Amino acid sequence: MAPPVRPRSGTARKEAAEAELVLCGRAWVAGRLQPLEVGIDGEGTIRAIGRNVRGARRHDVGERVLLPAATDVHVHLRDPGPEAEVETIASGTVGAALGGVGLVGEMPNTEPAVTSVERLEEKEARVRGRAATDVLLYAAALEPRALAALARRAGGFKLYLAPTTGIDPAPEAGQLDALLAELAHHDLPLAVHAEDPGRFRTGLAAVDPVSWDERRPVDAEESAVRRLLAASAWLRLHVAHATAAPIVALARARGVSCEVTAQHLLLSNASGRDGRFKVNPPLRSELARAALWREFAEGRVPILASDHAPHAALAKALPFDVAPSGVPGVQTTVPLMLAKVGEGKLALDVLLRAACDRPARLLGQPMGRIAPGHRANLLVVEFRSRRPIRGAQLRSPCGWSPFEGFPAVFPVEHWHDGERVVDGGEYVGRPCGRVVRPEYAPGAAARLPPPERA
Ligand code: NCD
Ligand code: ZN
Repeated sequence: MAPPVRPRSGTARKEAAEAELVLCGRAWVAGRLQPLEVGIDGEGTIRAIGRNVRGARRHDVGERVLLPAATDVHVHLRDPGPEAEVETIASGTVGAALGGVGLVGEMPNTEPAVTSVERLEEKEARVRGRAATDVLLYAAALEPRALAALARRAGGFKLYLAPTTGIDPAPEAGQLDALLAELAHHDLPLAVHAEDPGRFRTGLAAVDPVSWDERRPVDAEESAVRRLLAASAWLRLHVAHATAAPIVALARARGVSCEVTAQHLLLSNASGRDGRFKVNPPLRSELARAALWREFAEGRVPILASDHAPHAALAKALPFDVAPSGVPGVQTTVPLMLAKVGEGKLALDVLLRAACDRPARLLGQPMGRIAPGHRANLLVVEFRSRRPIRGAQLRSPCGWSPFEGFPAVFPVEHWHDGERVVDGGEYVGRPCGRVVRPEYAPGAAARLPPPERA
């Protein structure tokens, strides 16, 4: 990791003369907020940071705060799929931009699922000219012989160890060994849905979030994570949606990356009884939720992600046992946490590492910090402008949120590669999103350093 930028006083370095755009405000640089100017070149890259950067155009955000845009490593945009009225790449990435996210990692459980190079190319074509943010495309790790060709084109792999929306069944034990052995040859992030179906209590009726939690308990996550930890150290492993503090601790002890979601941090199995609160892995008890929040707020969780998984409101209103699992969140995850920062319940530093810096590093992207050489993907935030989340007002056509009424701080502006895509909280951009793939520094370790040392 590059050392933090030391802002200079006086005139900034020579590149400043070439800046096309200078954003001025209280910027989060080198671990604190300070009045600074950020010089951006014509390619949308940050070139200079200082007290006095010269440039063709200036934009002063006054007392507002300049933060790096976030990376959401886990979204489901349902595209291709039969339900364009629920979400598409176009709508989901505009939601992401409005929620402060500049890059999404799009999961492969679409219809059809991304299991071949042809399907990957098809999905790339859907991103180009439609996406408002950059998109990294995961391929499904299902068939060992398909992986080498996929690895030359995909942005990462997703491995499902348990059945979930669009994925059934999970790989058998022998097949899993073959998959992991093959995946270790390819230097791509490997996100894993880590639940062990052998630990599911399938005999239990699933009538509400409490019984869903009993049916797919935390031990199922623990068993699956232990299984992964026995696999090769060459894997760039990332445990998706860890729901409990012991799971995070287990991954951290071995330097394995993991993510938590806003739903598992802010909702419990007592938050509601209907299908809107059905998600995989399940919402846990209030006690477990509070312990996960402490783990997160104390900076011990590497990554915050949404697991944005929209379903039609009508489908979620079906009886609990048949309602699909998953909740929307790409537009609300960062704003919910910015509200927590505003309330003094979460340190800004902890949030920015988990939402911006570490996820960008996992996906091998030069963004996530306000630093020279990073892309000018920036947010302008006004902590006093809090408002309650209203599902019907979110960009996702699914039209509902499990966080209805929760306070949120939506970014006032969002700049993508030096171009303003959100202004006054409204989307004003164009579909300029690119398909990106990881670029890791040569010799960079596959496993993340434990968060304390990051
Ligand atoms: C996700 C979906 O609907 O695609 N659902 C969920 O409950 N999280 C799939 C997944 O990530 O398990
Ligand atoms: Zn998911």
